[in-house]
Amino acid sequence: MERIDKILSSQGLCSRREAAALVRAGAVTVDGAPVRSPADKADPASQVIAVHGRPLCYQAHVYILLHKPQGVLSASADRRERTVLDLLDESLRRRGGLFPAGRLDRDTEGLLLVTDDGPFAHRMLSPASHVEKTYYLRTDRDIPPHAVEAMRAGVTIEGGYHTRPARLTLLAPREARLTITEGKYHQVKLMLRTVGCTVTYLRRERIGGVCLPPDLAPGEYRLLSPAEAAGFLQKNAESDDASAQL
Ligand code: URA
Repeated sequence: MERIDKILSSQGLCSRREAAALVRAGAVTVDGAPVRSPADKADPASQVIAVHGRPLCYQAHVYILLHKPQGVLSASADRRERTVLDLLDESLRRRGGLFPAGRLDRDTEGLLLVTDDGPFAHRMLSPASHVEKTYYLRTDRDIPPHAVEAMRAGVTIEGGYHTRPARLTLLAPREARLTITEGKYHQVKLMLRTVGCTVTYLRRERIGGVCLPPDLAPGEYRLLSPAEAAGFLQKNAESDDASAQL
C-alpha cells in the first residue's frame, strides 16, 4: 500500500503537489470510491485508481530505450556536462530513480536502456549474463582479414584481460560489426587496437533481443512495456536459449 499522491506522481502524470490538488478536487477514485486525502493509501497492483474517471495504467518501473547521441554522458548527473537523463521529458525525470543501465563512451552513440529497475539492470549487466551486444564501427585504416579469427579466439586487451569469443563481420575495408558478450571499459576500441586499428566511429545497435529502431534518431527515446524490456535479458537476437553461443 502506498500514499495515493505518491502513486500518481510516480507515474510521471504530475508532481506530488499537483496530485494532492487532484485528490482534494475529488478527481481521484480507488475502486470507484472518491479519495478524500492525498495521504490515503491504495495498492496500485490490485486496485483500480482513476483520475477524472480514467483508469491509471500503473507500471511499477519504467524502461526507456534511448538512442544516445555523441557528446552526452552515460550518467545520472554531472556538474558540467549533459547526461542521458537530460534528454528525457520532465514528466519522466520527476519520477526519480532513473539511471542508465550500463555505459557508452561520450563519443559512442546508440542503444542504451534507462530504467529505475535496479534488479533488472543488474541481471542485464552481470558479467555472468553473457548477453550479446552488437556494435557497428568504422576505423582509421583497413581492418586486417586475420582480425576475424583473432576476435573469435579472443584477444588480450590493455590490462592483460583476455576477451571472450567475439564475432567480427567485415562490411567494408574500414567498416565492421562486432558482437561481444561482455562489457569491459572501452572494450570494442581496445579490441580493435590489438589488430592495429583505431575506432573512429562507434554505435551500439543491439543488446540481447532488442535492436536500435532504425527510425529512432540520436537523442530520441521510446518507452517499453515490461514484456518488451525483457528482450534485453535475452542472450541473443534469436532466442533466450542459454546454449546459444557465438
Ligand atoms: N566499447 C567501447 O570501446 N566503447 C563503448 O562506448 C562501448 C563499447
